[in-house]
Amino acid sequence: MAPRSMTRRVWLSEGLRLCGAAGTAAIASASLWAGAMAIGAGGCASRAILVRPGPNRRVTVRVEEHPELAALGGSLKLRTEDAGKLIYLVRAPDGGFVAINPTCTHAGCTVRPQARTFDCPCHGSSYDLRGNVLRGPAMLPLTTYPTEELSPGLVEIALP
Ligand code: FES
Repeated sequence: MAPRSMTRRVWLSEGLRLCGAAGTAAIASASLWAGAMAIGAGGCASRAILVRPGPNRRVTVRVEEHPELAALGGSLKLRTEDAGKLIYLVRAPDGGFVAINPTCTHAGCTVRPQARTFDCPCHGSSYDLRGNVLRGPAMLPLTTYPTEELSPGLVEIALP
């Protein structure tokens, strides 16, 4: 049997399957921009949305398709299809967007988004929504990636 190619439909199905486990069946987005694809599932706050970076390592997200980003302080969990890297796209309190690598800089645990912070479950470090340290033992901020609002509601993340 010939291998099934990874079509857009397959990606959407995967998104539905991931969200189905959380009891949500709404696919909110399939954004395509400059070769980068972000496939979303609105309402799946605890599930990562698979994203496929383009050749230039950029991913775009249409904010209107993700209710998590409607409020200041909201965050959208993304996972890259190629390397499995987790990223949180955060609507910062000033209205801008921040892309955060949730790997704690103390000892590498994965921090979790709270209402106004990212908190580490391992030793208690806390970071603000821009990744700055609020409480140690971590000494260094979380890694962030450049973001740009290409047009109103269309955010591009530049991955390393
Ligand atoms: S790994 Fe996060 S506080 Fe230690």
